[in-house]
Amino acid sequence: MTLAGRDLVSINDFSNAEIEAVLDLADEMNLALKEKKVLDLCRGKELYTVFYEPSTRTRSSFETAMHRLGGNVVSHAEAQVTSSVAKGETISDTVRVLEKFADIIVMRHHLDGSTRLAAEYCDVPVISGGDGAHEHPTQTLVDLYTIGKEKGGIKGKNIALCGDLRHGRTVHSLAIALARFGAQVTCIAPNGFGLPDHIHDAIRAYKGKITEYRSLEEIVGEGSLAVQHQKGFTNLLLESIDVFYFTRLQRERLSSDDSNNASEESYRINRQLLEKSREDAIIMHPLPRTNELAYEVDKDKRAAYFRQAGYGVPVRMALIALLLGAVEPKLEPNPKKDAVKLAKDVSDARCSNDRCVTNAERYAVRKFYRVPGKAQLLRCYYCDWPLKN
Ligand code: CP
Repeated sequence: MTLAGRDLVSINDFSNAEIEAVLDLADEMNLALKEKKVLDLCRGKELYTVFYEPSTRTRSSFETAMHRLGGNVVSHAEAQVTSSVAKGETISDTVRVLEKFADIIVMRHHLDGSTRLAAEYCDVPVISGGDGAHEHPTQTLVDLYTIGKEKGGIKGKNIALCGDLRHGRTVHSLAIALARFGAQVTCIAPNGFGLPDHIHDAIRAYKGKITEYRSLEEIVGEGSLAVQHQKGFTNLLLESIDVFYFTRLQRERLSSDDSNNASEESYRINRQLLEKSREDAIIMHPLPRTNELAYEVDKDKRAAYFRQAGYGVPVRMALIALLLGAVEPKLEPNPKKDAVKLAKDVSDARCSNDRCVTNAERYAVRKFYRVPGKAQLLRCYYCDWPLKN
């Protein structure tokens, strides 16, 4: 089994065994980096990064990864102003041109489903560096790798996802992956900022367990009389959390109504709260941070977020090497994958998500799939939102 030539635009594009193959190779890459070995696995290959949104970690770690593999990098930062997109060029034309120069493309775009559309038109592998508020699958690979390194595995762990879970793309891919690998997911998000329905559907499909709270106070037990009445129980709850995964409010995606109601106060972590947490719990954050993560937490050994960012390089080295066929994974032939069942005769229908790529790029053929167990519900193949009634 090879991963050569494959795309990664959703975490569900890879099976668990394929994800494990990436993480195992990442470990080898991590060791090679520590030993300062020179790797020449991708000599003569070209990685193009095409970013229509700002990035510090994703773009620079992909580019560093390719350099460490001996390959070349062409970087399109701020592609919305520096490329011919500024003149109205579409995603499909852009990637059909770039594939003539590139062996592999990493794209970040502000529209949900944009990287899936790019992959459909592109003959070289497309990796998503994040598509709108939809998914960020390579951040999830980095997150899974971090949890494995710091906590010894994922199965059975209780991972608390805290913050703007509605608009944050990292937590969407991560919640699905955690359910697939047998972790328990605890969500701590203010009212209106919880995980979207399609992520709940996906977690249910993998028989994942999910519990929801509105604030960290509910968990810590200082928020309400009812919680104080059950203080022993709530402390047990805090004790049960192995990983706190914080995310910022995605202010660039909030409506004006959301912006007026948005605040990090209900899930902000500081030293006081850390003191009440388990000694071996870890604090993760995909970064950048805003107000949800106090700087005083940085000195604590449980603060794993800078180590997490550092793992971006070996994980992305592994991914690039596998998709370019520079390394062949030890994988059994894939058992038949459940193909998405696309609905017929709905190409005139519209996706209800205003930020969906199919509502912006007019040539895009709209496709919808039926949700298992909810036969009447059609979701957009690109962004997973429901069909517009
Ligand atoms: N975690 C993450 O995606 O960071 P950047 O936006 O800096 O790439």
